[in-house]
Amino acid sequence: DWNMGDFAEETIQKIREEIGDKKAICALSGGVDSSVAAVLVHKAIGSNLTCIFVDHGLLRKNEADQVEGIFKEKFNMNLIRVDAKDRFLSKLKGVTDPEKKRKIIGEEFIRVFEEEKAKLGEIDYLVQGTIYPDVIESGTDKASVIKSHHNVGGLPEDVDFEIIEPLRQLFKDEVRKVGKELNIPNQIVYRQPFPGPGLAIRVLGEITEEKLEIVREADWIFREEIKKAGLNDKIWQYFAALPDIKSVGVMGDERTYCYTIALRAVTSTDGMTADWARIPFDVLEKISNRIVNNVEHVNRVVYDITSKPPATIEWE
Ligand code: XMP
Repeated sequence: DWNMGDFAEETIQKIREEIGDKKAICALSGGVDSSVAAVLVHKAIGSNLTCIFVDHGLLRKNEADQVEGIFKEKFNMNLIRVDAKDRFLSKLKGVTDPEKKRKIIGEEFIRVFEEEKAKLGEIDYLVQGTIYPDVIESGTDKASVIKSHHNVGGLPEDVDFEIIEPLRQLFKDEVRKVGKELNIPNQIVYRQPFPGPGLAIRVLGEITEEKLEIVREADWIFREEIKKAGLNDKIWQYFAALPDIKSVGVMGDERTYCYTIALRAVTSTDGMTADWARIPFDVLEKISNRIVNNVEHVNRVVYDITSKPPATIEWE
């Protein structure tokens, strides 16, 4: 058994020797991989590492502030938070196709990152949170791509700097152990997977600020209630999605015509296959009541009871 404390120490030492007093940059997403990679490099070279956190306006409630609070305030890292919401939303205006959304977000992300990098002067190293399963995956020619996964770590290949990938030999659970060793808070170390394109693929069809707000609020309530019910560790991934439909409801003696929120929760080990989570009915009832009572423009909540395959985990 590989001791992750030793791994961290040795890796920090190696990175320090490699980078010396040169400068490094990294794209921090708040996901566990990029976070652990960034903290390792920060421990090695301190303020010679600059982290770029692109806030594309498609994150969950409070997420951007949390990431900034942890890495800037707690770890005292050199973090540039780029508020790029308007740019992303204007590029996504009128776009309904899921793959097009992914492509636009991936490209815009690179553009923002490149612009920020250009402001920093000479940079010699790019830090990436690549882990062992990513290495294997990219080494095989997948005959069919079901969805392109533009991970917010996936940066251009034509870069003129060296790549540092301190987690290349680790599996996810090992990355988490290293994260614990480095005192990275649990909310990052045990964060559920969150797609790079974020809420853009959870608002089905055209994205508007109003729809983003609806799905963000519903998702927040869902996550709070799952935690309260003690189910957080038992479900692999859970979130709210906003289908592009309206349906009829009644409130008081008024007829309503509003959105439906879809709740998705799955158990899985790697996301390749997944089973819908058997959330107790009373928990679902509480979530549904809270959502329809507190989230404006929502009059119906449904629970997704399909497994993967044939459904995917995300709705887009
Ligand atoms: P699906 O929906 O394909 O998702 O069953 C499997 C896992 O991948 C995540 N996912 C993404 N992650 N960029 C990402 O970084 C993407 O475009 C993307 N699409 C899906 C999904 O959240 C689940 O964990």
